[in-house]
Amino acid sequence: MPGLTPEQIEIVKSTWQLVAKAPEDAGEAILMRFFEKFPDNQKYFPFRNVPRENLKGSVMFRSHAGRVVAVFQKAVDAFNTADPVATLVEIWTEIARTHFRRQIKQKSFDELKEVVLEILTAACNLDEVQQTAWAVTLDTIFGIISKELANLAESSQ
Ligand code: HEM
Repeated sequence: MPGLTPEQIEIVKSTWQLVAKAPEDAGEAILMRFFEKFPDNQKYFPFRNVPRENLKGSVMFRSHAGRVVAVFQKAVDAFNTADPVATLVEIWTEIARTHFRRQIKQKSFDELKEVVLEILTAACNLDEVQQTAWAVTLDTIFGIISKELANLAESSQ
């Protein structure tokens, strides 16, 4: 796995266990913070007009939050596959494609990446070494997305 040491892979897998126990709670925390810190992103969602304080606990919002975490779960599971890089590229290229169709830009992904690290750090009480392992993982994931978004933008011109 380029960029990640075997120790860092173990850190990512073990710290993720905490999130995996309550995926919708983690997803909800991430998306709430995402809209709080970068409110412009709510406009892409069907609940664009719902005030933020009413989102928490809403079925539509929680189910979306759970879906986002489920994709991260697949990404963590990718470390157990024969070719983790190929599996990650497959998963995240698909996310780039489905989101490109919704006009979601690189900037929104950068913003989400920042929030994912922030929430994971708080929720799992990550120390510096663990934060670095996650930062490298997120760089890998979001690097795949940004490459595909750039490809799609170029080929749609
Ligand atoms: C990198 C992390 C992300 C993951 C894993 C993720 C995952 C998903 C999944 C699994 C779906 C449902 C399947 C589909 O319709 O494609 C979805 C839908 C959606 N995502 Fe994301 N997403 C991510 C980032 C973002 C970002 C940055 C935005 C920007 C605001 C966004 C906005 C949306 C919207 C608007 C929908 C459709 C919601 C609906 O119509 O109910 N996503 N996402």
